[in-house]
This record gives sequence, structure tokens and C-alpha cells, in this order.
Amino acid sequence: MDHFLYRDGALYAEDVPVAEIAAAVGTPFYVYSSATLLRHFRLFDEALAGMDHLVCYAMKAASNQAILKTLAQAGAGMDVVSQGEYLRAKAAGVSGDKIVFSGVGKTAEEIRTALSGGIRQFNVESEPEMEVISAVAQELGQVAPITIRVNPDVDAKTHAKIATGKSENKFGIPIARARAVYAHAASLPGLQVVGIDVHIGSQLTDLEPFRKAYEKVAELTESLRADGHDIRRLDLGGGLGIPYTRSNEAPPLPVEYGQLIKETLGHLGCEIEIEPGRLIAGNAGLMVSRVIYVKSGEDREFLIIDGAMNDLIRPAMYEAYHDIVAVTEPAPGIESLAYDIVGPVCESGDTFAKQRTMPPLVAGDLIAFRSAGAYGAVMASEYNSRPLIPEVMVNGDQFAVIRARPDFDEMINRDTIPEWL
Ligand code: LLP
Repeated sequence: MDHFLYRDGALYAEDVPVAEIAAAVGTPFYVYSSATLLRHFRLFDEALAGMDHLVCYAMKAASNQAILKTLAQAGAGMDVVSQGEYLRAKAAGVSGDKIVFSGVGKTAEEIRTALSGGIRQFNVESEPEMEVISAVAQELGQVAPITIRVNPDVDAKTHAKIATGKSENKFGIPIARARAVYAHAASLPGLQVVGIDVHIGSQLTDLEPFRKAYEKVAELTESLRADGHDIRRLDLGGGLGIPYTRSNEAPPLPVEYGQLIKETLGHLGCEIEIEPGRLIAGNAGLMVSRVIYVKSGEDREFLIIDGAMNDLIRPAMYEAYHDIVAVTEPAPGIESLAYDIVGPVCESGDTFAKQRTMPPLVAGDLIAFRSAGAYGAVMASEYNSRPLIPEVMVNGDQFAVIRARPDFDEMINRDTIPEWL
């Protein structure tokens, strides 16, 4: 459920007409609903009620300060994967003891920053990384809390580019080697082993892969405890999928996911962490764009819009489907047309949808890409020298620009010209 609904023939973001925001900030732009963000966070929080737990929002999904602050104020922790994300989380007021640091290639500098500013735990991905964390912690006179990310060799049954839990993926250590790697970790003076971490992929629409992975984690918890490790925390990653179409998709609900966690791991008495990103932010954001031209090709109509692949790359990168709706509600019974919806970037890949059924549209009309809140703005670039598009947040009947559109000079003046030119 989200808070982008038609009212009196117009698309609203909570209590604000989307067209009003477009008039104020220009197009294209991203708009987020605070109520949807909070609703999704709370669904996870409630799904784990009765277990000691922390929902660490995977901020790679959408990392604007206003989004982080909205969630942090509701009690969310953060899952970060870089120094930049760590510093963004801190800047939004998240305390170090609610930040977990994931990622396959943490540098010594990143580790130092997190240890100095406070960290709940590092989710370690390899033995060499473990040694660096231990060394940096010792240098700072600290002991770093760690979990080790195990790769359970489970097929997440999702898009190949976002599956992470098979043995051929670069993530984690093979679960079969876990006992040896934990023994190594325990021997390093700068580390304190606190738990196990697992994350098998993103946009999972079936609970079975989670079940398989979590059963393996339960088994591993018992054997590591038998080896003398104090396994008291399980970080179960993110990955629960969202409906990208409104009709034919019904991924499992957070409450069902929570139930599965209780069933597979509840008996262990561990503190549970989860790292959802997409389910919190995905359906809490739209990308709004304007039709520039309607062009007739030989056998098709193109809607050429002012948003492009640099603003929302998911369709070009993963063949992802986003629901696209007209901001003015189509009149009942109006005959739809099929359009290829494309951006202005000079690549055929800059295609959002082919033969998409839409109400008849003309130049100047506004359209909205639904489910664009996660992995939208954060994956944008300035390709074709198109400045990053603004982000707006709505809260009830108020809205605020939470990242302004840079002007062209700002973009150009980031470059510097060598003296010899
Ligand atoms: N934890 C870890 C260690 C992760 O790598 C990820 C996502 C998450 C949590 C959050 O997963 P989520 O709940 O959002 O599925 N750009 C792609 C998705 C990449 C996901 C990367 N890792 C897309 O647009 O579909």
C-alpha cells in the first residue's frame, strides 16, 4: 500500500497534488511519501515484535538525509556499505550503535572512520578483510564487533544481477568453510565475534529461498556455539520484494517474513537484525516526468519524455518494469493507446517501456513512474550532462524540496582546467 492515489481526477502524493509539485520544482523529479516510508518501516518492526530486534534500513536504496531522518526518528538503524553512507547516516543523527557496516571491499580508511565514530558491527566478507579490521581496531585501541557473512549457496530466484547467495557470487564466505573462518576470527586480537550475517539477494518474491538460507544459519549457529563462539546476533540481510505491477504480483508480506524468521531462528534466543531497503523505500517514491513530444514512428508511437535512463536506470539495467501512470486520471472508458516510452539520451537503451498501454497523451502532460523510491535517485548520473534531478518529500499537506536541482554552472564548475590549457 502507498499514498499515491487519484483524487478528483488528479494524482496526489499524500494530500498534495503531484501537478502542484511539478509546477513548483519543474520536471523531472522524485517525490517521496513520508507516510509510506514510515508505514513500511513499521510493518517490519511489528513483524519482529516479540523478538529482540533492530530493523537496519539498507540506505543504498534511497539515502537522502530527509529519508534517513524520517526513518531514524521512528527508531530505525542503518545498514551502510561505504564511508559515504556511514557519514550520511551519522549526519542524519543515527548513532553508531545502530549502524551495521556491510560490503565486500571495506578499506582501512572506511574501517577507521566507522570505529572512530562508533559502529554496531562490521559484517565481514573475507579473511583478508577480517585481518585489516583487527589491525585497525588494535591501532585505535579498540575491539571491533563483527559478524561474518556466510554464503549459503541458495538460489534466490531473482534477477542475476541482484542475486548474491550462490557460491559463484562474490559475497560472503562459503558456509562450508565457516567454522574454520570463525576460528581464525576468534584468534585475532582486535575482533569480537558477535554473530552471523547472511543476505541472499534482492527483489525476492518467494519465501522459500529465505527459509533455506535461515535453516542453514540456524544449524551453523548451533555448531559455532558448540565450538565456543558467542553467537548472539543474527543479521538476516534484506531482499524482500515489492509488487512492481498493481495487479498480478503479490510478494510475501513482512508479517509472513517475520513469521518465517520466528519459525526458523526463534528458538536460538538471538537478537535479530534485518536490512530491508527496497520494501521500505520502493513504493514510497515516484519519478515524475513530462511528455516533450509525441512522435510517430513507422509502426509505433513514441512518447519522448524529459526523464531519461540517467535519472532512473532500472529499466535499462535490469529490464525492470515500472508501472507508469498519467498524473491526470484517465476519464472512464477512454480508449488506451500503446506507446514506446523513451528518454532523450542518445542510446536505444534509454527506453522505459515498449508498447505500454496508456491513455492518449500529448506534449506537456505529466506521467509518474511508480515504485521508483528505491534504487532510483541513488543510481542516477549526469550522463549526457543532464544535472541530477531534484528530490521532494511530502508529509500530509506539506511538501519540501529535499535536494534541489543543481544549476548548469554548478555542474560545469565541478571540473577544473589544468594550468597548461
Ligand atoms: N543488505 C545487503 C548486504 C545488500 O546487499 C542489499 C542490497 C540489501 C541489504 C537491501 O536489499 P533490498 O531489501 O533492497 O532488496 N540496484 C538493484 C538492487 C541492488 C541490491 C543490492 N543490495 C535494483 O535496482 O534492483
